[in-house]
Amino acid sequence: MQVVESIQEMQLLSQSWKTKGCSVGAVPTMGALHEGHMSLVDLCSQNADKLVVTIFVNPTQFAPGEDLDKYPRTFDRDKKLCEEAGVDAIFFPSVSEMYPGDSTSWVSEEILSQGFCGGSRPTHFRGVTTIVTKLYNAVLPDVAVFGEKDYQQLQVLRRITRDLNFPIQILPGPIFRESSGLAMSSRNRYLSEQERKDSLIIYKSLKEAASRVEENSDLKAIRQFLTDEISSVGGNVDYIETVNADSLEKIDVAQGSVRCLVAAHFGPARLLDNIQLL
Ligand code: PAF
Repeated sequence: MQVVESIQEMQLLSQSWKTKGCSVGAVPTMGALHEGHMSLVDLCSQNADKLVVTIFVNPTQFAPGEDLDKYPRTFDRDKKLCEEAGVDAIFFPSVSEMYPGDSTSWVSEEILSQGFCGGSRPTHFRGVTTIVTKLYNAVLPDVAVFGEKDYQQLQVLRRITRDLNFPIQILPGPIFRESSGLAMSSRNRYLSEQERKDSLIIYKSLKEAASRVEENSDLKAIRQFLTDEISSVGGNVDYIETVNADSLEKIDVAQGSVRCLVAAHFGPARLLDNIQLL
């Protein structure tokens, strides 16, 4: 397995694989890899000949005061996990490699990125779409895998990939959960033991909500149920929304493909989860 730090070297490696007729798959991450990431790696390996995991804690998707500095950085462990998973290369650039001091260009998506996580983190998605575009241009993948846990991010990235004509197939990776039901996230390590227990209400109540919803159900009542459940154990709800699973338009009556999106704070951790309701 190679660890590649320069964009040019990464492009050359990818091009050399393609010349030999191999397809290239990318799993973009910010490191601190866990089983959820490794399930994305596994999915990617089933759909591409060569496998690149990118590890880059992207400063532009963090606002001032967010957890950029304390975001976990565990490169040695990540490298071992990638080696064991048969990854061909880790793309591990520095901040100055990805953002030379005089960078002034951005990529933004202007509809799907509004509201939800984009409402509470107004500069977040511009950072995500910019870095993913730059990672595409470095790795030159044929396939890229993103997790469904960050559901809005997945839809935004699908949209920019389509709109900007990247010849890249996006594969969504199902949410990977701890045995308790908590959706895996690098930020789960911020939770105390009690907060970890309390946060299980998110998935428990989402499952209950999914079992209650049928065609034409009142989704306002479902959202209220979820708000009450999560608040009852001290969770601080950022948003709970019921949306069309493709367009992310908010909906109040269950029809078509409905996804329920949740973001809630438990102590220092802002946790995301979601479920298909219909
Ligand atoms: O989901 C993440 O880990 C990040 O937002 C991503 C897609 C790697 C961009 O930095």
